[in-house]
Formats: sequence, structure tokens, C-alpha cells
Amino acid sequence: MPVYSQVVMDHFMRPRNVGEIENADGIGEVGNPVCGDMMTFYIKVENDVITDVKFKTFGCGAAIAVSSMASEMAKGLTLEEALKMTPASVAAKLEGLPQNKFHCSNLGAQALRKAIEDYLVKQGRMDKKDVTPEEDEHAACETEEGKEA
Ligand code: FES
Repeated sequence: MPVYSQVVMDHFMRPRNVGEIENADGIGEVGNPVCGDMMTFYIKVENDVITDVKFKTFGCGAAIAVSSMASEMAKGLTLEEALKMTPASVAAKLEGLPQNKFHCSNLGAQALRKAIEDYLVKQGRMDKKDVTPEEDEHAACETEEGKEA
């Protein structure tokens, strides 16, 4: 049975920023092909700063904690700063995840990046063809999954 940090348990039991933003500026939805879990991030942006974040996650406890932490970390960041968020940085803020749950941390940073890219495309500041392909997103996920074997 995996052992979770107090921070993970806190964010799992009392997730922050659950829900949906009406008229969100950007929406990012990702799924984990390994387990079938889904995560959607909604962002509000003002002057290239993320002013609000909400999420809906259908997934395991680790994925819920990751969503909650990633949403907290993203608030107040510039788009450029938020794009630097990685699964490892979210997992570190959660004081770690058991190795066999580390793949769950991929979804948070991916969903956030998708929401930002959706915003930039809507703004005409990014070409749709430059949006991060799904295969690249899942490559990391599968790699982490592979480590479990
Ligand atoms: Fe699916 Fe955690 S088991 S994201």
C-alpha cells in the first residue's frame, strides 16, 4: 500500500479550486491512457497573468491532489512561468508521490499547459499546429509507467 505525504492527503481530502470557470479564457483537457483518468483545467488570464484556476478531475486520489496543488501553484504566475511547471515540480510541492503513482503527476502540468495553449490559440498568439501533440504528453506518462515494471 503506497504511503502518501501529509500534503498529498490534505489536498486529496480538501482539494482547492474544484469546479469550472464560466467563460474561461483557456481550457485544457487531458487523459491518462494508462489508467483512463481525466483532468480538465480552466484558467482566467489578465495581462498574461493567471488570475484564476479551477479543475475537474475524474481520477485517483493522487491525481486529485496533483490537480489541487497544480491549480494553487499556477495562480498568480505569468503564462511563461506557468509553462515551466513540470510533473516533478508539482510532485515536489506535494512532498513526493510513491513511485508507482508518479505517473499521476503528469496530468496536472499537462492540463495546465493545454489550457494556456488554448488561450494563446484563441488570442491568435499561437498557431494550432504548434500546440503540444498528445503523443508527446503521453510519452512521459508511459515512460514513468514503464519504470514501475
Ligand atoms: Fe490514473 Fe492516478 S491512477 S492518474
